[in-house]
Amino acid sequence: MSTIDTAITASRELYDQSLSGLVEFLSIGSVSTDPSCAADVARCADWLAHALRGAGLPHVDVVTTNGHPIVYAEDCSAGPSAPTVLFYGHYDVQPVDPLNLWTDAPFNPIVKNDTIYARGATDDKGQVWAHVKALEAMYRTGGRLPLNVKVLIEGEEEIGSPNLAPFVEARREALRCDAVVISDTPMFAPGSPSLVYGLRGLAYVQIDVTGPNRDLHSGSYGGAVNNPINALAHIIAALKDSSGRIAIPGFYDDVIPLSQEERDELAALGYSDETLKADVNVDELFGEPGFITPERLWARPTLDVNGILGGFTGEGAKTVLPSKAMAKVSMRLVPGQSTAKVVQQLTNYVKTLVQPGISVTVTDLHGANPVLVPRDTPAMRAAASALETTFGTACRYTREGGSIPVVELFDRVLGSPTVLMGFGLNNENAHSPDEHFSLENFRKGIEAAVRFYAGYAAERS
Ligand code: BES
Ligand code: ZN
Repeated sequence: MSTIDTAITASRELYDQSLSGLVEFLSIGSVSTDPSCAADVARCADWLAHALRGAGLPHVDVVTTNGHPIVYAEDCSAGPSAPTVLFYGHYDVQPVDPLNLWTDAPFNPIVKNDTIYARGATDDKGQVWAHVKALEAMYRTGGRLPLNVKVLIEGEEEIGSPNLAPFVEARREALRCDAVVISDTPMFAPGSPSLVYGLRGLAYVQIDVTGPNRDLHSGSYGGAVNNPINALAHIIAALKDSSGRIAIPGFYDDVIPLSQEERDELAALGYSDETLKADVNVDELFGEPGFITPERLWARPTLDVNGILGGFTGEGAKTVLPSKAMAKVSMRLVPGQSTAKVVQQLTNYVKTLVQPGISVTVTDLHGANPVLVPRDTPAMRAAASALETTFGTACRYTREGGSIPVVELFDRVLGSPTVLMGFGLNNENAHSPDEHFSLENFRKGIEAAVRFYAGYAAERS
């Protein structure tokens, strides 16, 4: 048997243990945005470091930052003639809110129909764990890895990786690698693996609107004092036109248009609008005119209100003219656009929309730059071959609409090409109640990771 086959067999023998480890990992409520979860985030980092040591990695550190810790491990014993791969993932998760819509408790993982349910199952603990177990299977076969491996798993991806840049910049030399591999993206469809070559960026702001100094009786004051919720609605309504195009002046100026060649390629993917409609139960899709769904999702910028707060929302009716209103607004960005510039454009535009008797502030919460990764690299070829062998079908090249801030950072600081080889599915409820991960894709993820590491090492040595 080849070493790869032996490692695949070892990964299968390890499976029960892999699943119970995943259950433990998912039981830790590592919600990075919630300060009351900080101790659990730290506990998760320690747990993961312990697990990496158990998998066979000889050097594992939990590195403190100004925020949540980074787990960093490496094994460079294959030596300078062997290639080096940096695996990146995140162990933090999104909040569980709204809790009452979960069928089972979010941090009490449950397996049903070969699927595991918990916050973080698909984004990103399940996918991270597939790599940890792949490395463990490889250690069990040869006692050592055929390539040098660096592992960086952070605890702040879901809040825009605010403390990662200083870490990566300070360790530029230590992190040097031939390729980066990340599994934090969905596949094209069930059974259909993909390599993602582009991610959108993100600019996330909060708009606070203040009117009178206190809540007022709407009968005594309404008509003479402006209402901050109405004023906020006026602002929000002006951000997009009725066709769905963003109305912020200059917003589209820097967007690099898709080439006809790429448009043809995206059209040829056979993306199913019907599947999307059925998945989210809407009878019509809605988006920027002149673009097909994969273009709208992956290659065109967007603006969405994520949440809105203000006034009386309890049972029954209360006549009140509220003092404050607030909205959280995010924009997904595409190559050419920069987070700082669109936030400035939005802020300038909002200023022109402020009505009398109202004050408005726009606060920049976090962001990520858009990125395209090279498609024709040795690591991409090794990943394509690993996916095709594992899934038994050709792999597609897609872009994605979500953001992973580190990809652009690695590109800029390390200059190494990234491979985005994900095992999630779009309908696995990431960031939403009843998040889950297909255990079939978990098992295939482990095998594809083994084939990727071993195949890349064989090709480059
Ligand atoms: N795993 C996602 C990124 C993702 C989602 C890629 C969907 C492709 C498709 C990641 O964990 C995530 O959710 N990122 C945030 C980043 C943000 C907080 C800076 C996102 O995209 O909202
Ligand atoms: Zn993620």
